[in-house]
Amino acid sequence: MKKRPATNIQFTPYEISLCLYDTDRTKQWKQAIEDVVRDGDIVVDAGAGTGILGVFAALDHAKRVYSVELQPRFCKLIENLALKNGVSEKIVVINQDATMVELPEKVDIVICELLCTGQFFEPQVQIINHLRKYFKPGTKLIPRKIESFIQLLDAHEILYGVRIDTDSRSLLMPDDEPVSSKVQYDEIDLTKQAKTYVDSSVTIKARKTRVADAVVITSQATLSDDIITERTKFLYNPEVIYLKNPINLIKDKLYDIHISYPYGCDTLDAIIEVTESKMHPRV
Ligand SMILES: C[S@@+](CC[C@H](N)C(=O)[O-])C[C@H]1O[C@@H](n2cnc3c(N)ncnc32)[C@H](O)[C@@H]1O
Repeated sequence: MKKRPATNIQFTPYEISLCLYDTDRTKQWKQAIEDVVRDGDIVVDAGAGTGILGVFAALDHAKRVYSVELQPRFCKLIENLALKNGVSEKIVVINQDATMVELPEKVDIVICELLCTGQFFEPQVQIINHLRKYFKPGTKLIPRKIESFIQLLDAHEILYGVRIDTDSRSLLMPDDEPVSSKVQYDEIDLTKQAKTYVDSSVTIKARKTRVADAVVITSQATLSDDIITERTKFLYNPEVIYLKNPINLIKDKLYDIHISYPYGCDTLDAIIEVTESKMHPRV
């Protein structure tokens, strides 16, 4: 498969604050960090943003936290958050690209919240693969597994009297209608050297005789033994991607979906093809 680089779309201050104030998301991460971090652990928080997750680890008795963040503006926020919470001595802010960063020591815990639905847009997998050289036996990851799912959609594409299906969108509209079963098309085990792309074929069943002009992608991530995070206000919104070649479905027939893209790429670069399946539905 042709390799394309991760996008260079940058997080804005608006988005970073939506992350912080998405209390369902942030409380789940706090709980997972408390479940996993042990006293005296060395932690890296890669893609640290406001620094909140590293501060949770420091308050939970980590010995040292390397908060790695690409954007200088956010690095200042991390320093201030650490200062205001009395953990400045534990937090080392590194303003670098986490896919290339050099750390001065090995780590017990990797925290990396660059979770975008389908692993589009952000280099989560590439960062964790790079940080593997700092793992010790028993290094733990938050998250440790990511699963993604796909379903065909009859998507609403006329709005304000204008046809608007030129971009993907991170939300479902009221008139969107799922027209097939939903299946898992990807699973990333981050505890092992992970692949950096999706190249997957799955079979789904049509629920209706209708056009399918889009797919909807959803994801979930395993943060700890007890916490699997799905959609919250800001995290893991469903990603609707329009098909270049819409298909007319017939109820109860099977269809194959082939989907391929490198992790971190733009949704518009995903190749998604839907064809009638040669398999027969079970009676
Ligand atoms: C989804 S935000 C999450 C922020 C924070 N971890 C949290 O949970 O609140 C992702 C952050 O990763 C940063 N980021 C993206 N790519 C990066 C890279 N290659 N190296 C370091 N930071 C990166 C972004 O600037 C952004 O602040």
